Amino acid sequence: MTRHFLNLGDAGGDAIAAMIGDAIDRKAARAGYAKGRADDDAPLAGHVLAMVFEKSSTRTRVSFDVAMRQLGGSAVILDAGTTQLGRGESIADTARVLSRMADAIMLRTDDHAKVEELAAHATVPVINGLTDLSHPCQIMADLLTVIEHGKALPGLEVAWLGDGNNVLNSIVEAAGLMKFNVRIGVPAGYDSDPAFIAAAMAAGAGITVTRDAAEAVRGADVVVTDTWISMGQDHAEAKLAAMAPYRVDPALMAQARPDALFLHCLPAHRGEEVTDAVIDGAQSVVWDEAENRIHAQKSVLRWAFGQL
Ligand code: CP
Ligand code: NVA
Repeated sequence: MTRHFLNLGDAGGDAIAAMIGDAIDRKAARAGYAKGRADDDAPLAGHVLAMVFEKSSTRTRVSFDVAMRQLGGSAVILDAGTTQLGRGESIADTARVLSRMADAIMLRTDDHAKVEELAAHATVPVINGLTDLSHPCQIMADLLTVIEHGKALPGLEVAWLGDGNNVLNSIVEAAGLMKFNVRIGVPAGYDSDPAFIAAAMAAGAGITVTRDAAEAVRGADVVVTDTWISMGQDHAEAKLAAMAPYRVDPALMAQARPDALFLHCLPAHRGEEVTDAVIDGAQSVVWDEAENRIHAQKSVLRWAFGQL
């Protein structure tokens, strides 16, 4: 069976734990290496990853490319607008062609159904590099970062502030798989996908939704936010106004545990969802989180190729 990574549940909790363990080990084993140098075992030597971007990216683009180099393979990056996909070639035919030319495919797109259709017609692993529904690769890096900073996942209290978006959906999914809790502080009208919440709660995660930002953050081990306006969304003044009470500033951060970590997938809109004092402050681990996209995705790739 071809292993696709469209959501975290495609791998499951045991495989996620194995991937994070692998990422920690591999990161330590290559400490001090130049970033483009291959790992000593080069486990994906000769393998090519094709990446298709229908939306902008800095981290996902660079981290997957560098991840493939470190695994001994290589990557081809396609901007959909300059491909035949952008001129109407079907996703199914694109899947068939890229499956003959590459060993795995990563897609960043809008409608999640597109990545599902790509996977349905691909004969090589397909990885979700962000859709409007979810961002599983980001959350792999987030989990790695939290563990690296000394926090165990079971029972962890994670507070989310702001928009109920794709990143939150994957955090909620992770909570069900890895047995942690999420307090969601979002304004009415901007809630996240109820199906992800129901599934996580059924799996034993504590998921609470509140309109009170301080209540969401109180006593949390990890505080997370993201842009209020995701790619493809209108820059609506009404939305920005509704989000204002959920800005993560030092006063809100002070409601969390003193040793709480601050996470943000980036790019940040400083002064909107987070202030400089927080993102540049002592509790922020956002640069580790960004670097960990490389290390986490190397293990996702190894899992997709059946090496984990
Ligand atoms: N966090 C993240 O996915 O960043 P990019 O949009 O730069 O890839
Ligand atoms: N929620 C954001 C994440 C960017 C990495 C977006 O979809 O634009």
